[in-house]
Amino acid sequence: ASEQIFAGKKIMITAGPTREALDPVRYVTNHSSGKMGYALAEVARDLGAEVTLVSGPVNLNPPKNIVCNQVVSAQDMLDSVMRDITHQDIFIACAAVADFRLAEVPTHKVKKKEGLLTLSFEQNPDILKTVAALNKKPFTLGFAAETNDVEAYARGKLERKNLDMIAANDVSSTDLGFNSDRNALTVITKHNKTDLPPASKKALAKELLTLLHIEYSNQK
Ligand code: PMT
Repeated sequence: ASEQIFAGKKIMITAGPTREALDPVRYVTNHSSGKMGYALAEVARDLGAEVTLVSGPVNLNPPKNIVCNQVVSAQDMLDSVMRDITHQDIFIACAAVADFRLAEVPTHKVKKKEGLLTLSFEQNPDILKTVAALNKKPFTLGFAAETNDVEAYARGKLERKNLDMIAANDVSSTDLGFNSDRNALTVITKHNKTDLPPASKKALAKELLTLLHIEYSNQK
């Protein structure tokens, strides 16, 4: 059995994509499979944490001995997170949340017509930023999915969103990151940077949570 480094700690993790409706039968989403977030949830559980997983629509089975709240849209995910966030010690935002949603979702199926179809999108709430802005904020780990200038953009998110830690991944290659069973991460805090080279998402989850535990313990 692994060392129970998170015994007595509550960890909430978001995972998977969100799905934003275009009309009653259509939606927009992204390539997130939920594998990275689910791996983190299982490893955190095995390290003794009481885990709440807030998951967008994925094709994975809910892990055993983890509270799994299934959501669809970014707004649903925010509502689910906020319902329980004040009890959490640690928040990990691994979900690929849609930044935009349709400004007005038609109540009926949109009919085929000639010419161009124009849609207007408005911003979704930023779940991670909302959590990190709380008065009594949990330790927050964000992710950054980038296709270029990975470290610079990640550092920007760490500061702008007031995070304790950020795990950046390059999502420009198809054999790592989105949907793949493997990933590679650059983990950044105010004072440290650690490269975690390509490995299975399970192995990376273990390494990332070990780094998080060190940083979290230093803060206490
Ligand atoms: O699910 P997999 O197929 O296993 O793939 C894993 C992954 C590539 C999705 C994962 O490792 C990852 O990078 N997740 C974050 C994806 C993302 O949306 O990154 P971002 O750089 O757009 O967002 C930055 C951070 O803000 C993220 O922690 C995100 O969860 C959070 N966010 C973003 C927008 C929003 N409205 N609310 C948020 O909470």
